[in-house]
Amino acid sequence: MRILSGIQPSGRLHVGNYFGMMEPAIRMQQQGEAFYFIADYHALTTVRDGGELRQYVRDVALDFLACGLDPQRAVFFRQSDVPEVTELAWILSTVTPMGLLERCHSYKDKTARGLAASHGLFAYPVLMAADILLYDSDAVPVGRDQKQHLEVTRDLAIKFNEHYGEGLLKLPEPVIQETTAVVPGLDGQKMSKSYDNTLPLFAEPGALKKLIMRRIATDSTPVEAPKPVEGSVILQLFRLFAGADDYQRMEDEFRAGGVGYGDFKKRLLAACVEFFEPMQRRRRELEADPGAVEDVLRAGAERARAEAARVLDRVRRAVGLGLA
Ligand code: ADP
Ligand code: TRP
Repeated sequence: MRILSGIQPSGRLHVGNYFGMMEPAIRMQQQGEAFYFIADYHALTTVRDGGELRQYVRDVALDFLACGLDPQRAVFFRQSDVPEVTELAWILSTVTPMGLLERCHSYKDKTARGLAASHGLFAYPVLMAADILLYDSDAVPVGRDQKQHLEVTRDLAIKFNEHYGEGLLKLPEPVIQETTAVVPGLDGQKMSKSYDNTLPLFAEPGALKKLIMRRIATDSTPVEAPKPVEGSVILQLFRLFAGADDYQRMEDEFRAGGVGYGDFKKRLLAACVEFFEPMQRRRRELEADPGAVEDVLRAGAERARAEAARVLDRVRRAVGLGLA
C-alpha cells in the first residue's frame, strides 16, 4: 500500500496539525510504503518572502522528524525537488471543469479572509491532485478540512481515465481519523494558524502556559458548581494528551464541581508539556545537525523522483506528448 501526505510550510505547525495529520501519518508509516512531503509549491500561494519560505521548510522538516517520521521507513521530501508534479498538474488542469474548482471551500474561505484571488490559489486543488496521483497513492491521511480536495482528486482521476484509458491513474482514499478530525483551538473554533488560536508544537513551556492560562476562554461557573462538559476546549484538548483514566477523572470532576478552571488548565498544561517533551529533545538534537536533515530530504527526493518519472511517462504517452 502506498501512503502519501503533504503539509504546507506556511507557518509554525500546531497541535491541530499534529493530531489531525502528522500523528496518523507517522503511525501509518508502519503499514505500507509512505511518501511524505513538504508542500512548498503550495505555500507560494500565501508566503511571499523567499527567506521566510525557506525557514518554514526547515522548521517543518525538523518538526516532522522530531515527531517520529522515520526516514528509513518513509520517503520524506520537498515537493519542489520533484518538479514533475507541475507538469502533471498542467495536464490534469486540461480535464478540470471550472465548476469543480469554483465549488471548493478553501478558495472561497481564503479569499474571504482577504488573500489575493490569484490563479494559484484557485488552481491549488489541481496541484494537490497531481501530488497524490503522481505516486499512485492508495491512502492519504489528512484532517477533515482536506476531504473535499480528495474528492476533487478522485473526480479528476476518473475523468482522466474515462478519456484516456482505464487504470491510468489510481484512485486514492482519504484516511480521516474521526476522533481527531477537527482539533479545537484556544477559542473553540477549529485550530488554525489563520485564526490565531493555536497551541504551537515546540513552544517553550512558558509560552504554552500563557496561551493555556490566558487564552482558553471559560465561563463564569463558580468553583464549587458543576461545569459544562459539552464543548469544553479544556476537556477536548486534555483528551488528546492524557491517558484514558486521567481524562475520565477530569470529566468526572467537571460534572461533580468543586474544582476551578484554573486547576484544570494547570493539568492540561502539564499533560501537554509532558507529551511533547521527548519530541522537543529530539528536535534539539536534529537542529544541531542541519546537514543531516538536508541529506534526508535530498535522498527522499531522489526516490520520489524515480517513482514520479514512471507515472508521468505513462501519462505523457497516453495524452500524446513526446514520441509514442
Ligand atoms: P492551518 O489550518 O493551520 O492552515 P493546514 O491547512 O496547513 O493548517 O493543515 C495541514 C494539515 O493539518 C491538514 O491535513 C489538515 O487537515 C490538518 N489540520 C489542520 N488543522 C487541523 C485541526 N484543527 N484539526 C485537525 N486537523 C487539522
Ligand atoms: N493541501 C494540504 C493542506 O493544506 C497540503 C497538501 C498538499 C497535501 N498536497 C497534498 C495533503 C497531498 C495531502 C496530499 O494541508
